[in-house]
Amino acid sequence: MGPGFGSVAPRSFFTSDAASLSLDGTWDFRLDEGDWGAITVPGHWQLQGHGSPAYTNVRYPFPVEPPFVPSDNPTGDYRLVFDLPENWPDEPAVLRFDGVDSCGLICLNDVELGVTRGSRLPAEFEVGHLLRPSGNVLTVRVHQWSAGSYLEDQDMWWMSGIFRSVALLSRPRGGVADYEIHASYDHVTGSGTLSVEGGLLSVPELEVTDLLPGQSFSLAVEPWSAESPRLYDGVVHTDAERVPVRIGFRTVEISDGVLTVNGSRVVFRGVNRHEHHPRFGRAVPREVALQDVLLMKRHNVNAVRTSHYPPDPYFLSLCDEYGLWVIDECDLETHGFGELGWAGNPSDDPRWAESYVDRMRRMVERDKNHPSIVLWSLGNESHTGRNLAAMASWTRDRDPSRPVHYEGDFACEYVDVYSRMYASHDEVEQIGREHAHGLPFILCEFAHAMGNGPGGMIEYRELFERYEHVQGGFIWEWIDHGLERDGHFAYGGDFGEPLHDGNFVIDGLVFPDRTPSPGLAEFGKVFEPIRITGTEAGIRVESFYDHVGMDHLRFDWVYEDDGVEVASGTLEVPRTTAGARADIALPELPAVSGEGWLTVRASLAAPASWADAGHVVAWGQILVAEPPPATPPGGVELVHLGAVLRHGIGEFDPVTGLLTKLGELTLDGPRLDLWRAPTDNDRGSDHPEERAWRDAGLHRLQHRVVDVETHPSGLVVHTRVAPPAWGFGMLADYHWTADGDRLHLRVDITPDGEWPCTLPRLGLRMALPAADAVEWFGRGPGEAYADSRQAARIGRFTSTVDALQTPYVFPQENGNRADARWLRIGGVHIEGEPVFDFTARRWTSEDLDAARHTDDLVPGDRVHLNLDLAQHGLGTASCGPGVLPQYRLHARKASFAVTFVPASGRS
Ligand code: GAL
Repeated sequence: MGPGFGSVAPRSFFTSDAASLSLDGTWDFRLDEGDWGAITVPGHWQLQGHGSPAYTNVRYPFPVEPPFVPSDNPTGDYRLVFDLPENWPDEPAVLRFDGVDSCGLICLNDVELGVTRGSRLPAEFEVGHLLRPSGNVLTVRVHQWSAGSYLEDQDMWWMSGIFRSVALLSRPRGGVADYEIHASYDHVTGSGTLSVEGGLLSVPELEVTDLLPGQSFSLAVEPWSAESPRLYDGVVHTDAERVPVRIGFRTVEISDGVLTVNGSRVVFRGVNRHEHHPRFGRAVPREVALQDVLLMKRHNVNAVRTSHYPPDPYFLSLCDEYGLWVIDECDLETHGFGELGWAGNPSDDPRWAESYVDRMRRMVERDKNHPSIVLWSLGNESHTGRNLAAMASWTRDRDPSRPVHYEGDFACEYVDVYSRMYASHDEVEQIGREHAHGLPFILCEFAHAMGNGPGGMIEYRELFERYEHVQGGFIWEWIDHGLERDGHFAYGGDFGEPLHDGNFVIDGLVFPDRTPSPGLAEFGKVFEPIRITGTEAGIRVESFYDHVGMDHLRFDWVYEDDGVEVASGTLEVPRTTAGARADIALPELPAVSGEGWLTVRASLAAPASWADAGHVVAWGQILVAEPPPATPPGGVELVHLGAVLRHGIGEFDPVTGLLTKLGELTLDGPRLDLWRAPTDNDRGSDHPEERAWRDAGLHRLQHRVVDVETHPSGLVVHTRVAPPAWGFGMLADYHWTADGDRLHLRVDITPDGEWPCTLPRLGLRMALPAADAVEWFGRGPGEAYADSRQAARIGRFTSTVDALQTPYVFPQENGNRADARWLRIGGVHIEGEPVFDFTARRWTSEDLDAARHTDDLVPGDRVHLNLDLAQHGLGTASCGPGVLPQYRLHARKASFAVTFVPASGRS
């Protein structure tokens, strides 16, 4: 129940000019005393051919009888023989382990040094006296399970081994044992105050030379913020050692219940980041950590919670450099005790007290010099108790400069900010109104990004803007934890685990290979730091930056007539300060014959460290010219031709009333469709839409032809569409009329009987011959749903059927394009009245529903096209609130019209 032992006191993570030797690379390895082979360090043995990963969310995969773990405890033996580089100094030295999961017994040259516990925390062992010039034998015996596993029940894969770097570091006598820099900023005077412990400090750029420990010095500086991450390079030094340091001046405060940095209220537009790589698990290569940071910055993410353990220290140095607010979270979660009603939870058991505080101490000491860290977090989902309170009070004593966060302290007894996860919009509104606990409020997790979604982000943004002390939140989560295997990404259960939580580990804004999902595009748009909207007088540009003005941006506009550019220019925007706004007149625009949209983009005027010049930070669209009214087709007579009905370019089956041919194209005619392959959010536990839909039988509707009426002016097909076994259904009347090359369909829908549930979708479904190219005028380029559509702009787009698909790791409804005015696909041109949504795929909704991995979807020889009046929203019920009332789709009377034209007849 105690922490590891034998290690030296924790200190900050740094490199210096003292000698060092990386021990990363190929080591000898055997599992459970099997044959010796090779393994890469850092890495997990389960991803290198030994054993298998296993995924559980909350439940411990072993009997809960702390501190005992199964006798059948996978054990890896690591061995490395190394020589010292030439000229290795005769000084003390330490072996540093940055992460060993879950515990390691360390021996050097047959001497036992101690044991590491706390998988995502460093441990250093004194070894100077044991080193020899060559043939040093380092062995580490790692157990998959240890008492520490009870404290590491995070929602992620169970994977073991030496998964972070190992190094041998010379620690010269008289060197920098540890250091701490205090660099605060006074936003009233504009001066920074600097002091150092552990050595002398020099910062050439500030003309600070040899500042003595304990002395403090004030001078004019530029502050550090996530928006403007100004760092000053310096060096902490003694006669024996020089440590390069990067200093950011900033002050975190809570005043009047509002969290501020450098005097300004901050809003976290954040994500929760686990360390994950589809091949290397939690051994994330450095260039991939950088890729995360760049992707975040390019999508307007300004904050990261390091859920639920301290990350590789390199990630924090990237946050300092590129600018992200960080909540650094301790390696602690005992969620599985919740299954036992929290009986025996270590958080309130004094026998675990030292382990709790040890973990916090090791994180705070390691990471204390990062300006990006603005809050310390005690851990996650460990209920509440004295040991957590002890961690908080130790932290406050040690580092009064940063507030303490922990979500599980519902009563806010020992935290400085009130934090919740997945609170609904209504509840956040209430917290805002009442200023609950008088503290700053954040959502440490919200908008669960599992599968298609999350929906409802913009409504959260509105709450962050309405209440000063509602200061943003962190999407759950950054990345899908899929593991590459057999041509797809694997999730829980794919490794034969007896106990698992399926695809609940696939809930990120980026796919496992870090391809942005539509959810990330939506995030980037919803949380853009500049908002561009239309007003009666023209254009409004509002800043949502907390710290910087707009000098780094340029504003350009384009004007499009039915999606075709007709004019463009640059917009002069008065230079405003953070949080200000400007109203600007519309530029002079030419007359247009179609729908006229003005798009204004704010982009980087010069290259930033995280994106090229021209990177679009924000955009807005203003409708300047309404589309001209359409003329409904009509006038062509319906004729009976043997076994078919001919109406203009359409041919119909006289018995079923179905369209069979359009010009030369053979179709499986449009029919009413209500079904979609359920999303993870539809399947969510609290709002089981999917169950209601399946119980109602919406996935197996039957179509009964009531009557096919023929008139000289057209065809009316009366049908009743209903699921088996139930009495309710829909009356659907198809009205066909034609002129020249245009065939017009209006469908009138009337619910018949009491409907017990919402509808997944309301529209038409048809099949076309195989097609590739797609073009449309509407929202794009990406997918959009009723409650996740901010990122899709109005324009003319081209794509292919394959590129319209979003490859969610667990297949589900995807790829909807919204508000199409017209669509051209497979030789057909379809016009809306005024708009429709569409999806087009080489498989059916039923295939999509049945698939479990992306490679279960096999293209057929037809394209299945849905033209929808509407779809049910997405919500975030896979964990959290469901679809907001305004985005729920109910059975009601509706009319929906489209016009079909052979594409050859259109320009
Ligand atoms: C939270 C938890 C996260 C994750 C999420 C659901 O309760 O803190 O670790 O499990 O739910 O994906």
